[in-house]
Amino acid sequence: MTGPDAPRGTEFGTSSRPRLSIVRADGARLIDARGRSFVDLGATHGAGSLGAAHPAVAAALAEQAAQLIHLGSGYANPVREEFLRRLLGLLPPEFGPVFLSNSGTEAVEAALKIARSATGRPKVVAAMRGFHGRTFGALSATWRREFREPFEPLVPEFVHVPYNDPVALEAAVDDRTALILLEPVQGEGGVHVAAPGYLGAARGAADRSGALLAFDEVQTGVARTGRMFALEHWNVVPDLLILAKSLAGGMPIGATVTTAEVERRFRGSHHSTFGGNPLACAAGAAALDVVVRERLAERAARLGRVALERFGGLPEARLREVRGLGLLIGVELRTPVAPFLAALQERGFLALSAGSTVLRLLPPLVISDEEWSAGLDAVVEVLQHG
Ligand SMILES: Cc1ncc(COP(=O)(O)O)c(C=O)c1O
Repeated sequence: MTGPDAPRGTEFGTSSRPRLSIVRADGARLIDARGRSFVDLGATHGAGSLGAAHPAVAAALAEQAAQLIHLGSGYANPVREEFLRRLLGLLPPEFGPVFLSNSGTEAVEAALKIARSATGRPKVVAAMRGFHGRTFGALSATWRREFREPFEPLVPEFVHVPYNDPVALEAAVDDRTALILLEPVQGEGGVHVAAPGYLGAARGAADRSGALLAFDEVQTGVARTGRMFALEHWNVVPDLLILAKSLAGGMPIGATVTTAEVERRFRGSHHSTFGGNPLACAAGAAALDVVVRERLAERAARLGRVALERFGGLPEARLREVRGLGLLIGVELRTPVAPFLAALQERGFLALSAGSTVLRLLPPLVISDEEWSAGLDAVVEVLQHG
């Protein structure tokens, strides 16, 4: 409701939608104000790879909060150093300097600024169906018209090429290109996985033209696709790797990881007051420890295979295609997905859409075998009879 009779204190843009009120999390479950428990097949929008209240993350936060909540990046801090040490220990050796911020869109903004500054060039080549965030730079790289149009004019010199088309990419990249920005798996755009050779072709186009290459792994990063980072599936190392969402166990964080060579070429300055704050870094260090110790990348690969097998026999009348990598799965339907999401919620399962016809499953990586299997059964049931 809007206008003079609207209740005060509503969240901007949400007052017309009825929403579940969630008060607690337990493993892969979210529990509402009435005590009903839902299995979260969307990992709280991809940030809850460890669920939304992992005990190791909660303990790290409580311990850190008692010592130092905020600091500012002008000071060094052992917790931040420990987090960065653990993160870089999981990444290819080419990577070194990391810019820490508070969200995916900020991590993308940093990559855009770094690329323009380091190359002295203006142009950014991104992909159709890509999603990179809602601030002006990231939105300029985002494809969907409904997200962009109300805010135009956006940042100039952004072009979009069809995803998985190396010839179109090569043709668009020239000596004015600062950055090629791609998701290894397009998440919001409908779960489209990079074809073999596509990311390698992007690396080649960047090298030939002197542009930088960035992978936006905000959604695919940290074990989601069955490897610690999706880039490992293709064995291609970009100049900039963009991380956020689940990196800090559900605490707000963004990370723009780059190389010493790119840092050397960077002119100007970039800064964030809360980026790299002790709470996010303590949570991040704890979260990475859990991901490694519990071998969650292997778990994502195994549970992802289970899903693809389970969906194998679904009726073609309902279904166009099932796509995915690890625990990032898109079920493309022939009809709008909204009624199926509602039917799943009635059965106690919360899933997401990706566009109007794709049912997106990206559960917490800590989901139990039983919960996952029940979730897949529920999806099959609503698709067959819903
Ligand atoms: C690939 C990708 N990049 C960037 C973003 C923006 O992240 P945030 O919502 O944290 O700003 C998202 C969010 O869904 C995303 O999926």
